Amino acid sequence: MRKYFFMLIMLLSVSVEARQRQNFDADWLFILADTASMSKPDYNDKAWRRLNLPHDWSIEGDFMASAPAGAGGGALQGGVGWYRKHFRVEDHGADQLYFIQFDGVYMNSTVYINGHELGTRPYGYISFEYDISPWLNPSGDNVIAVRVDNGEQPNCRWYSGSGIYRHVYLLRTEKVHVAQWGVFVKPRLNARMNKADIDVEVEVENCLKGVKVENTLLDAEGRVVGRSKASPASAPSGKSMFKSSLKLSNPHLWDIASPYIYTVRTEVKVDGRVVDTYDTTTGIRTFKFDAQKGFSLNGKSMKINGVCQHHDLGCLGAAINEDALYRQLRMLREMGANSVRCSHNPPAPELLVMCDTMGLIVMDESFDMWHRKKTQYDYSRYFDQWYERDLTDLVRRDRNHPSILVWSIGNEVLEQWSSSGSDELTIEQANLVLNFGHDASQLATSGEKSVNTLLAERLADIVRALDDSRPITAGCNEPDPNNHLFKGNAMDIIGYNYHNYCVEDVPKKFPGKPFIFTESNSALMTRGYYVNPSDSIIKAPVEWWLPYTDPSFQCSAYDNCRASWGNHHEETWDLIKHNDFICGQYIWTGWDYIGEPTPYGFPARSSYFGIIDLAGFPKDIYYFYQSEWTDQPVLHLFPHWNWIPGQQVDMWCYYNQADEVELYVNGRSQGVRRKGEHDYHVMWRVTYQPGEVKVVARKNGTEVRSQVIRTAGAPHHLRLSVDKPVIKADGTGMAFVTVEVVDRDGNLCPNAENQVFFSLDGDASIAGVDNGCQFSMERFKDNKRKAFYGKCLAVVQSGKRAGTIRLTAKAVDLEPATIEIKSK
Ligand code: GAL
Repeated sequence: MRKYFFMLIMLLSVSVEARQRQNFDADWLFILADTASMSKPDYNDKAWRRLNLPHDWSIEGDFMASAPAGAGGGALQGGVGWYRKHFRVEDHGADQLYFIQFDGVYMNSTVYINGHELGTRPYGYISFEYDISPWLNPSGDNVIAVRVDNGEQPNCRWYSGSGIYRHVYLLRTEKVHVAQWGVFVKPRLNARMNKADIDVEVEVENCLKGVKVENTLLDAEGRVVGRSKASPASAPSGKSMFKSSLKLSNPHLWDIASPYIYTVRTEVKVDGRVVDTYDTTTGIRTFKFDAQKGFSLNGKSMKINGVCQHHDLGCLGAAINEDALYRQLRMLREMGANSVRCSHNPPAPELLVMCDTMGLIVMDESFDMWHRKKTQYDYSRYFDQWYERDLTDLVRRDRNHPSILVWSIGNEVLEQWSSSGSDELTIEQANLVLNFGHDASQLATSGEKSVNTLLAERLADIVRALDDSRPITAGCNEPDPNNHLFKGNAMDIIGYNYHNYCVEDVPKKFPGKPFIFTESNSALMTRGYYVNPSDSIIKAPVEWWLPYTDPSFQCSAYDNCRASWGNHHEETWDLIKHNDFICGQYIWTGWDYIGEPTPYGFPARSSYFGIIDLAGFPKDIYYFYQSEWTDQPVLHLFPHWNWIPGQQVDMWCYYNQADEVELYVNGRSQGVRRKGEHDYHVMWRVTYQPGEVKVVARKNGTEVRSQVIRTAGAPHHLRLSVDKPVIKADGTGMAFVTVEVVDRDGNLCPNAENQVFFSLDGDASIAGVDNGCQFSMERFKDNKRKAFYGKCLAVVQSGKRAGTIRLTAKAVDLEPATIEIKSK
C-alpha cells in the first residue's frame, strides 16, 4: 500500500520546476438543477451545496421503480446538475498555461471558464482536459462551471453514477511543455531477458528552435540507471516529437509476484533551461499469448485468472476513492486473481496505478457499444463523431502502464452481426440482446469485407498506430468464425464471452490464433442464501427470453445457480485448467455491482454475479478460487448450521493441500470425502440437528486443519471489525467496518436482520452503509442499516483533523459495540 501511495504521489501530484499539477477536488458548489445562466461568472451560486469531488449525485437518492435508468441502471435517479468552483491563479504570465483536467464526468459534460464555453465531452468514462489560459482573470475571481447531463436514460446497461465522479486537476505549465499524455515509454526486453531497450517518445507543445529533451531512467530506489537525449525528429513546429532510446542491463522485471517499477524522468530544455519535467512510470516484461501453449509472462506459463469489474464502489457509488478501490483489488488479489478486465470502459487512472504496483494484469476496454445502440440514449449516439478521439485518448492515457497486457476494442458490440433489432429493445431486453439467437444469415458470408469488419479494423488500426506492443481483442458472444469482427485482421486474440461448449473447436476454427475467455460464468448468488438440494443447477432464467420469478429475490450461494447463457464456476475452471491453449478467463464478475440484477427486476437493483457481494463480504465461491489459485491452505465448510431439526442439508467443502476431509455432526462421522481430478468441492447430505458440524482435513493420515460451525442461539450482541486500524486524516481516508450480529458465545447469527444504528465520535463521517442484499430499498447514504444474513457494513470517512474516531453500533435488544480507528 505504501508503495502504491508513493507511486500515486509521483504520478498525480508532481510539482517540480514549471509543471505544477494541483488536485482540484476541494470546494466545489453543486446544484441538481439546470439553467443556462449557471455558466455565467456572476451567477448567484451562494445557496448551492458545497462539496468536495469526486461526487456522484445518483447514489444519494432513493431507489425507485420509476427511475428512468430502470433496475438495470440501479433504479436511482439521473438528471442534469451543475458544478461551479471559484478560484484564483498566481503567476499568470504570458509564458504560463493553465489546463483543467477531468479524469471522468458522467456524462455529456460541458465546461465553461468565466462564462466561455470550452467544449462538450459526451463519453462519461473518458479523461479530458481544456486549456483555460486565454480566459483566465489574472488578478480576481475565476469560475469554472460544469454542466453534467445524465438526464436521458437509460444510457448504460449498468449503474453509471452521475456527476464529476473522478478527480480533477489544475495543471500549470510553461508554454513549451510536454503535451497531454505526450510521453510514450516502450520497453523491449531481449529473449534472454537480461537486456532492455527502452524507447521514449516525447511530444512537445509549442516547440521552438533550441528545444532539447533529456530522459533519465530511475530505478525503484530513485537511482539513475540510464540516460538519453533527443533533438526533434524534424524541424520544430507547434508540436514536435523527440525520440530516443535508453539501454538497461539486467533489468528487474515487472511480474505479478514482484511488480518492479522504473521511472523515466523527462526534462524539456530551452537553451539549457529546464522548462518542463515529466515523470512516466514503466515496467519491463515480456509476455505471449500463444495459440497452443496459452499465456506466459516473462517466459513462465500461467493462466490469466481474471475478473471483470465495473467501476462502482458499492454504497459509495461511482465516486472514486482510493481506499475503497484498493480494498476491492486487495480482496481479489488475496483470492488469487491476477488480472482485471475494465468492463466495459476506460477505468479510473488510479486503478491502473494500483494494478501496476500490485502486480495485477489488466485488459483495458474502450466501449460497450459502437454504432449500434444497446440502450436508448447510450454512447452509440456519439460514436461516429467521437470514437476516434475517445479511443485515441484512452490508449495515449494508458499505454505506459506495465499492467496492461491487452486492449479490448469493444464488448459484445452488435456489429458482430449484419444487422440487429436493437432499435426496438427495452432496457430489460437490452441486457438480454447480448445473448440473442442470431442466425447464420447475420454472419459475414461474402468474400468481401463488410462494413462491420472494416470498422473493427479501423478501431484496431487506431490502437496499433499508438501502441504496437500489445495485442488486441474484443469480448465476442458470437463464436462463429464468420462473426464480422473475426473476419478481418482486427483481432490478435479470439475472445469469447461464454460459449464454453464451442471452445474446444477454437484451435480448428481459428488456426494460429490465441484464445481467452473475455467473459465467463455469469453465475448468480446471494451471500448467505442456500437452495437445497444443491446438486441440480438452477438456470435463471431457463432460456434468456423466458421470465424468471422467485419471491425471495435471491439466488442460491452454492455454485448451483446461473444465467442460461452462462456456466457455473467449477465447470469453466475445469475446462480452462485442462486445456493448455486457453489463456485464461475473466469471470463475470469479481464484485457485485449496482444495476443489472439478472435474473430479477425491481426491487432487485444490484447484480448477483459477484464472487464478493456489494458490501465486500465474500460469497462461499471466493474460497473455491482461493483453493485453486493460491498456495494458501484453504478449508471452507458451508453453509451455516441453523436449520429446522430433521431438515436435509447439503454441506459443501472447498479445500486444498489435503488428501481427504471428514465431516462430523455432533461428533458422529458423516463419511470421508476425496476430490477427483475434475472435482473442486466435496459434499455431504446430512440431517440437521442442533449442535455443531465439524470438518477435519488430513494429509498422509494426519489432521492438518479443521473447522467447526455451531448452531447460533438468539442474537445477543454486535461485533465490529475494521479493514485497517489507521486511515489518512485528509478527508479521503476510508475504513470499512463490518458489523456481525452474534449470539452470547460469539457465533454469527446467520439469519439475523436486526436494524443497526451508527453514531460517530471524532472528525469523520459515514460515507455509506450496505449489507450486500441485492434488493434492499434502504439508502446507501445513511446512519443505519439492517443486517443481512447476520452482517452489515459502515464506511467511515476521515475528516481533516487527526485523532481517534469511534464508531458505535447499536440495535434494539442487543448489546452495542464500539470500534476505534486512528486518523493520521
Ligand atoms: C454479458 C455482458 C455483460 C453482462 C453479462 C451478464 O453478456 O457482456 O456486460 O451483461 O452478460 O451475464
